[in-house]
Amino acid sequence: MSGASGTPYAAAVLRALLDVGESVDLVVSRASRLTLLDETGISFRDAHWRDDLREWLARGADGKPGAFAVDLDGDRVRYWAAGDLAAGPSSGSYPAKGMLIVPASTACVAGVALGLSKDLLQRAASVTLKERRPLVVAVRETPLNGQTLRHLVALDDAGASVVPASPAFYAGATHIQDLVDFVAGRVLDAAGVAHGLYRRWDGELGGGARPA
Ligand SMILES: Cc1cc2nc3c(=O)[nH]c(=O)nc-3n(C[C@H](O)[C@H](O)[C@H](O)COP(=O)(O)O)c2cc1C
Repeated sequence: MSGASGTPYAAAVLRALLDVGESVDLVVSRASRLTLLDETGISFRDAHWRDDLREWLARGADGKPGAFAVDLDGDRVRYWAAGDLAAGPSSGSYPAKGMLIVPASTACVAGVALGLSKDLLQRAASVTLKERRPLVVAVRETPLNGQTLRHLVALDDAGASVVPASPAFYAGATHIQDLVDFVAGRVLDAAGVAHGLYRRWDGELGGGARPA
């Protein structure tokens, strides 16, 4: 997670990965703690990451506590401090299938596009590209300046999937969580992860219309 708005997208992706039995290595950038605090009221602590993560993931996009049942027991989630450049995901020999940056700030997009590796998140992204593993970048900013657009093209050229956090309205959304799940689902689609987060287009117009 980097420090763009959109922590509900990250929560939806994390829940879906855990639901399908994937293991997750979680990195929360320093700026992302600010967006988490702003968007959820949760002050994310390295030393108590499991408690804070459990509380966060149980919330819906509207902030209501206990909306989701979350099982964080066992070792399916590993948390790495963003400043820990000796962490597992900083090496290509660490057994990772790929990496999802959700949400991705324009600063993170720039850092990864330029190969800066200034923190664990950026380093792990560079490693993912050099190992030719799937890298999905869910950028969240609007409008986009030319610099960011060029960085996004560089990421696409390098093999990453750029998946803007831009919800669609054809899938019949009636709640904020539906819009969040659409973006999270498209992120997982780009990584080839099975999920049932949104209703797919079936070729019939009118499926997204709300009842009168
Ligand atoms: C509450 C808040 C919301 C932000 N929203 C965005 C955003 O939507 N997109 C973005 O690119 N940056 C956003 N920023 C700015 C980034 O956090 C900032 O550029 C930071 O340096 C990103 O660092 P990181 O990529 O290491 O996480 C936001 C910052 C704050 C405090």
